[in-house]
Amino acid sequence: MINAPVSKRDWSAHPPLLYPGYTSTVLRAPTKPLIPLAHGLAETSGPVFGHDSLGPLDHDLTRNGMRNGEPLGERIVVTGRVLDEDGRPVRNTLIEIWQANAAGRYVHKVDQHEAPLDPNFLGAGRCVTDENGVYKFHTIKPGAYPWRNHFNAWRPNHIHFSLFGNTIASRLVTQMYFPGDPLLALDPIYLSAPEGARERLISRFSLDVTEPNFCLGYVFDIVLRGRGETPFEG
Ligand SMILES: [Fe+2]
Repeated sequence: MINAPVSKRDWSAHPPLLYPGYTSTVLRAPTKPLIPLAHGLAETSGPVFGHDSLGPLDHDLTRNGMRNGEPLGERIVVTGRVLDEDGRPVRNTLIEIWQANAAGRYVHKVDQHEAPLDPNFLGAGRCVTDENGVYKFHTIKPGAYPWRNHFNAWRPNHIHFSLFGNTIASRLVTQMYFPGDPLLALDPIYLSAPEGARERLISRFSLDVTEPNFCLGYVFDIVLRGRGETPFEG
């Protein structure tokens, strides 16, 4: 267990709790002002994960759901650093990701999008950051999918991320996007993060990270607090 102080969250970097364009926030946003509570041990401490907590394929979504062949779609590798509010690497922290398959379909009973499931793709993985705060996943580029927020609404390609940080209070749940996606300009979830901060949610294509003859590489750094903080999911 780590015990660390956590500074106040910078709300200029995060979506407001109520963003009418993202219609489910209208139902779930608090209607009364929040009451700040002092952080106790439950907020300033957190679980410690080790590399031995993971399975050997947990970080490789191109293989962790294989049943009778390789998953369909474009293979990608996503890597980056997790940093704290002072720019220091956050080591040994658990990162979990989940995503749609290449056709834009989740392995989840609530997902009724009429796109095919891929029998060889689960769409979930996890890894732990190394000594330099670096993580890396191999996966399939997720497809866009429709949702019922408004007429003809489509989510841009995205990967969901959950990070624990050093404390429960620094836990971050967010979404990573891809550069040049035309749906970003139309997406109320992406647009609900303030301008100047939402751009931090877009990964960067990198030829250095790209693996020859195998997959394209994207870099997505995550800052848990402070200047340059990565916006929370709304
Ligand atoms: Fe999603």
